[in-house]
Amino acid sequence: MAFIDWSEDLSIGFKEVDNDHRKLVDMVNNIHDTIGQELVTDILIELLEELLSYTSWHFRHEERLMQIHGDPEMPNHKQEHEDLEQQATELYEKFLGGDNNVPAMLLPFLKTWLSDHIVGTDKKMGQFLTQQTEGTTNSTPIQWTGDS
Ligand SMILES: [Fe+2]
Repeated sequence: MAFIDWSEDLSIGFKEVDNDHRKLVDMVNNIHDTIGQELVTDILIELLEELLSYTSWHFRHEERLMQIHGDPEMPNHKQEHEDLEQQATELYEKFLGGDNNVPAMLLPFLKTWLSDHIVGTDKKMGQFLTQQTEGTTNSTPIQWTGDS
């Protein structure tokens, strides 16, 4: 069974961002499965780097959409992104520094992030974006071009 199952509860109702979130859930599940194995340090470092890189892109993606559509919640939402990125980077750096408690701290952090941020803040953004774009044909979605 996956660590986090994608469900409609996680959907913010805006497909372009839901697609990013599905990818994040896959990445977090992959990290969960890796932590369950032995001798994982190098693989885990690689997965964390991918997650940080993708998360950074994804947050800028959401911020770009909020900017394009004039979401009034953008300053608070952006601040939440910055806080989450900072916490994730700190965990990553601790792990690089040899702190073996990080894997155990990482999974609850990622799960809370996905459940609280997506279901709370992102869902509100999804409603706003849906309102703003209703009746318009979706312009070309902004897509990840990274290599993961
Ligand atoms: Fe967000």
